[in-house]
Formats: sequence, C-alpha cells, structure tokens
Amino acid sequence: MDNNFTLELVDEAATLALGSALGTAIMPNLTIYLHGDLGAGKTTLVRGLLRGLGFSGKVKSPTYTLVEPYENLMTKNGVLNLYHFDLYRFNDEEEWESAGFRDYFNAASVCLIEWPEKAAHILPTPDVDIHFRIKPSGRDVRIDGHTLTAQAFVKSIKELCN
Ligand SMILES: Nc1ncnc2c1ncn2[C@@H]1O[C@H](COP(=O)(O)OP(=O)(O)OP(=O)(O)O)[C@@H](O)[C@H]1O
Ligand SMILES: [Mg+2]
Repeated sequence: MDNNFTLELVDEAATLALGSALGTAIMPNLTIYLHGDLGAGKTTLVRGLLRGLGFSGKVKSPTYTLVEPYENLMTKNGVLNLYHFDLYRFNDEEEWESAGFRDYFNAASVCLIEWPEKAAHILPTPDVDIHFRIKPSGRDVRIDGHTLTAQAFVKSIKELCN
C-alpha cells in the first residue's frame, strides 16, 4: 500500500510552490517525515505550505525550540493544527514526555518533522515520507504515502503539480 511522486525542484521558488500544493492538499491526522541533508530545503517546503494557507507571519526554523506550533489553520479539508519539528539537536527523551510533544500527534493535527532520525524510537511512524536530494543545482524530491489517507494526500499533490 504505497503511492509515490517524484519531482525536480530547480530553485527555491519550486520548493515553495510544492509546499503550497501540500498546503492545498493537506488533511488532518498526518505524520510527515522530512528527510535530507543540511540545507536540502525541508524548512523552505514548510514555509511554502504555510504561505499557501495564508499564514503571513515568520516561519522560522525550530532548531533550538524543537517545535514551532501553528494552530487553527484554515484548510480545504477543515481547521487543523500544524506542528513543525526540527529534531537536529534533540537529545533528551525525558523532554519529549515533559514537554508534552506526544500530545501533538493527534487526529486534528499535522506534524512535519525534520531530522526524524534523531528521535527514531520515540516518534510515531510516518504516514508520509518526503526525501530531498541535493543536486549540483536544485533538488530532487520524492514523496511516499504509506496509509490510505496519505495515499489520497499524495494523489492530490500529484494532480496539483501536473
Ligand atoms: N529547489 C531548490 N534549489 C536550490 N536551492 C534551494 C531549493 N530549495 C531551497 N533552497 C535553498 O536551500 C537553502 C536551505 O534551505 P532550508 O533551510 O529549507 O534547508 P533545510 O533542509 O531545512 O536545512 P536544515 O537541515 O539545516 O534545517 C535555502 O537558502 C533555500 O533557499
Ligand atoms: Mg530546516
């Protein structure tokens, strides 16, 4: 049960445009892992997604805070809470429990996670994996949907990008 989609992102604007398509297709109850080296475009994609949903504030990288919340976002598929994690500096499993991060993963939320590898054994499994590959110029991206909901999500991104 898998659905996937690959795309070449020639420049930053292309990454933002894909993010915007994700924002149009987004639905609650998704855990999305963002994979790729430092500077691959993971935060840029989340910025494009939020901009696409009309969020006009600053979208900063949660490298030090671990998570940046965006609550009560209006989407085509209803209101949802989006949590953007960057776990590059994550090293304290007790903090995961005490900060209540577990509760961020629920039926009304979308969690996008940079550097999930850093907390592999405490994170919920992903519904969607997004892999970036840095090229001499631009990026390649691959989106894999693993669950029924995620497959519908990937299918609608495909249609938006065609
Ligand atoms: N498709 C693209 N082609 C070229 N440059 C891009 C592309 N997408 C994003 N960038 C640029 O890559 C740089 C790094 O992007 P970004 O901060 O999103 O990476 P990241 O994957 O979040 O990195 P980190 O792991 O350090 O958080 C930014 O300057 C951004 O403009
Ligand atoms: Mg980042």
